[in-house]
Amino acid sequence: MSELKTPHAGQDQAKDDDVVALLMRQHGDIRNLFDEVEAAKGEERRDAFRRLVRLLAVHETAEEEVVHPFARKGFPGGEQVVKDRLAEEKAAKETLSALDELDTDDPKFMPQLLKLRKDVQEHARAEERYEFTHIRRSTDAANLAAMAKAIKAAEAMAPTRPHPGVESGAKNMALGPVAALMDRTKDAVRKAMGK
Ligand SMILES: [Fe+2]
Ligand SMILES: [Fe+2]
Repeated sequence: MSELKTPHAGQDQAKDDDVVALLMRQHGDIRNLFDEVEAAKGEERRDAFRRLVRLLAVHETAEEEVVHPFARKGFPGGEQVVKDRLAEEKAAKETLSALDELDTDDPKFMPQLLKLRKDVQEHARAEERYEFTHIRRSTDAANLAAMAKAIKAAEAMAPTRPHPGVESGAKNMALGPVAALMDRTKDAVRKAMGK
């Protein structure tokens, strides 16, 4: 199995107060998980894919609850930027749900995974370029930190860096299907934002 890429604790800490840095770190985690799924076979691939599904579901849902609503009003042209990102997210979630129905050993799995990977990567790049840079310029440190707090509440439901002895296939499965995870993410984010 490929070595897991674990960011340094100090680096994590520094980024946690800034929603943009936090989301960009998750983009990196997502990239690494795609690598893991591609490199693994059998049970390991199944396990890596479960973690990828969870992180993607939680990441996109949290963005939709936290940063897109801000971006819509936060800078000129924000409305259109968010509209474009939401269309990409919807397409990615549909591919993700379809993939989630396939066994990871199914011959159709890999081609679909590679398509999803390409779509997700392009989406992340567009977010970073057209949305995140503007968010950072359009608000202050306190607001960036408040949004980061809400994202962290969501992230807690989808730990991506396994803790030895805790992470297991069975535990992953117990977290339930994608849609339920998205609902729980929304609840956690709204609670963190005091809604
Ligand atoms: Fe997104
Ligand atoms: Fe994203």
